[in-house]
Amino acid sequence: MTRKRRLLSGMRPTGKLHLGNYVGALENWIVLQNDFESYHFVADWHTLTTDYEHTRSIPENTREMVIDWLAAGLDPVKSPIFIQSKIKQHAELHLIFSMLISSARLERNPTLKEQVRDLDLETRLTYGHLGYPVLQAADILMYKGEAVPVGEDQLPHIEMAREIARRFNFVFSPDHPVFPEPEGLLSRFPRLPGLDGHRMSKSLGNTILISDPPDNIRKKMRQAVTDPQKVRRNDPGRPDVCLVFTYHNRFSSEAVPEIHSGCESGALGCVECKQRCADNIIAHLGPVYEKRRHYEQHPDEVAAIIVDGNARANEVAAKTMAEVHDAMGFG
Ligand code: TRP
Repeated sequence: MTRKRRLLSGMRPTGKLHLGNYVGALENWIVLQNDFESYHFVADWHTLTTDYEHTRSIPENTREMVIDWLAAGLDPVKSPIFIQSKIKQHAELHLIFSMLISSARLERNPTLKEQVRDLDLETRLTYGHLGYPVLQAADILMYKGEAVPVGEDQLPHIEMAREIARRFNFVFSPDHPVFPEPEGLLSRFPRLPGLDGHRMSKSLGNTILISDPPDNIRKKMRQAVTDPQKVRRNDPGRPDVCLVFTYHNRFSSEAVPEIHSGCESGALGCVECKQRCADNIIAHLGPVYEKRRHYEQHPDEVAAIIVDGNARANEVAAKTMAEVHDAMGFG
């Protein structure tokens, strides 16, 4: 039997997840856990890069996010779920890696440049934030991650992890490379936009949460933007520019062609179209609600899953660090 490839992925603890986190990210992890030896972790140290003053909400946000992972179908027996800050070796490997990359290289990171612009960080960018991709490289390479499912914005970070792995191997272990060069895996589905057509984000108030009760989903969907040219029911619409159709595309399976032609001909009005869309999202999330309720009622189970995941991650991390020490001659 051939060995399964190692997959590593994490999210920052943002609390309850929205459909944008689900479609294209979490759903992808759930599919991939069957083909890879997967590790999933909560990147809590990474939240400090942009929000170091607000640490009190991290434990609650971590718990809510892990419950959503489990509710959506991640299998913690197959794939350990762990917390970055509980595996201290990430900090040590980050320190070592920080010597192997130039600050000029880190400053050229397009994802960082975007954040600096969006968050207006020109004069306040911290040393830790600049080093974000170095910590991410430590996260990935600690588990010898070969595949990393991410969104497009993260590809520059994966590229830096490859460079760091190559550099480490070249300098310290040219004959027996310690680290693989990880590859980013992009998901089949593009990111789902928010209800106003912009990027889905809690700070923009345009989300549907995967834990939203059905009535909330119906209410939120009624407020979604549609094709501005379709004003009345019989007006012909343009599904390919309509946000609601994007959601149908993902959640309405066989009904998609009929909804497309109903919108185009004008036979399907936006009110009914949105109702059907909400119903299909709710039906899709049915099993997720049920599992979520189970884990909400059994917090001890969630805690035990994390304790187990931390222990399994720690075992791998200890092994990798022994190899690192050996390669570098730290006895
Ligand atoms: N940077 C990722 C994000 O913001 C989170 C992350 C941290 C991560 N370390 C990682 C993702 C390692 C994959 C692998 O989404």
